[in-house]
Amino acid sequence: MSKLFAKKTLSILIAEADESEKGLKRTLGSGSLVALGIGAIIGAGLFSLTGIAAAENAGPAVTISFVLAAFGCAFAGLCYAEFASMIPVAGSAYTYSYATMGEFIAWIIGWDLVLEYALGAATVAVSWSRYLLEFLHKFGIHLPHQLVVSPWETIKMSDGTMIEGGLFNLPAVIIVLLLSLLLIKGTRESAGMNNFLVILKVSVVILFIVLGWSHIDPANYDPYIPANTGKYEHFGWTGIATGAAVVFFAFIGFDAVSTAAQEAKNPQKGMPIGILGSLIICTVLYVLFAHVMTGLLNYKLFAGDAKPAATAFAQTGYDFLQTGLIVAILAGYTSVILVMLLGQSRVFYSMSKDGLLPKFFSDVHPKFRTPWKTNAFFMVFVSLFAGLVPVSDLGHMVSIGTLFAFSLVCIGVMIMRKRMPDAPRAFKTPFVPVVPIIGVIVCVYLMYSLPNESWARLAIWLGLGLVIYFTYSRKNSKVSNKP
Ligand code: ALA
Repeated sequence: MSKLFAKKTLSILIAEADESEKGLKRTLGSGSLVALGIGAIIGAGLFSLTGIAAAENAGPAVTISFVLAAFGCAFAGLCYAEFASMIPVAGSAYTYSYATMGEFIAWIIGWDLVLEYALGAATVAVSWSRYLLEFLHKFGIHLPHQLVVSPWETIKMSDGTMIEGGLFNLPAVIIVLLLSLLLIKGTRESAGMNNFLVILKVSVVILFIVLGWSHIDPANYDPYIPANTGKYEHFGWTGIATGAAVVFFAFIGFDAVSTAAQEAKNPQKGMPIGILGSLIICTVLYVLFAHVMTGLLNYKLFAGDAKPAATAFAQTGYDFLQTGLIVAILAGYTSVILVMLLGQSRVFYSMSKDGLLPKFFSDVHPKFRTPWKTNAFFMVFVSLFAGLVPVSDLGHMVSIGTLFAFSLVCIGVMIMRKRMPDAPRAFKTPFVPVVPIIGVIVCVYLMYSLPNESWARLAIWLGLGLVIYFTYSRKNSKVSNKP
């Protein structure tokens, strides 16, 4: 029984970080870490879900939904930052829980993070393929519809054409393949491209806000909080709360910074700056963006629109910028997928180093020094999901998995404060235990707002994880089988 709760000591973790000097390269400064965060954060959540949450849940008050979701993330983010500055080892929430709650919980988190990172990458890849289709449509290029939509899915193009269940979402698969190959080649190269994509993405959001501001029609803000229709999720304050669970997806990714701790030049300082800095910048941009978007067009008009940012922007009359906007959004999505794939490979790398997964997952390429076999494995895994599963099912799985991991990280900080009160922490979460407790409450509340199927799928995924743990990982664990 005690084996289940075998813990890694802090000194082992730090020694591993030093050892890793010989493995992964330390190339990321604070600026690159903030860019890594923003790269993972701004994506499908902002450019697609803002319109859906406004039309179906919150109206113009979707801005308040963003603030609520940001609060939940900020509490969890503060806890992540303490861990990341204390345990600067690749693997994120997985590694932190190994030190605090023991191997079994660590396994559950590592396994659960596949939902966040791998399925997160798949979700955004599917949305990427939607914007690509719009872009190609503008130039009269129509791909065979069997190759652009997954089975069990129908999509509506801006000209009203309906594309019904095809065979496979090929563009989504291609983007996953290309980015996985880039990651295999090396983190520094990937970080360089990420910085470029982030600048482009942030510029487009700022341009949208600045150009859109003078075209806002105040009549669109009346009423700012539409009255609840009698259904929990339809408008009013409960609608705003549901809207927060929907747009929560837009914040996922800031924790991906912590997975790159082993590649940070000065993790003690860089981790908190990377995590909290990217979260603050994105929250400000999101609220302003949502404010302009719902001011340009009545919220009801965003119903069923897969590209609300482009629709709203059309109100400004700057038609010539439309195509540029779509291109920048495509580029922005690319960086989200990149960071998600990076995070995923680093979590499996750490789990494999600990013996919980086969050695295959921690083999580092002799020349590129990247965990290339893990990258290749997830290239196939993520492609299958991106090609075959509808986007909404993917999105809910990502949210529930992430919220679960966030809750456990918040609990972990409280445990670590009790177990190791004097261990050096470059960054301390303020007001412990209040901040972590509020973090858990907000995350569990957002999980509660998600559909029941998501809970069932989470249970199935975790069940599969338990089978693997008890048949393989437990026997091969380096920590619990230490002589
Ligand atoms: N936060 C990321 C997005 O919005 C996952 O695409």
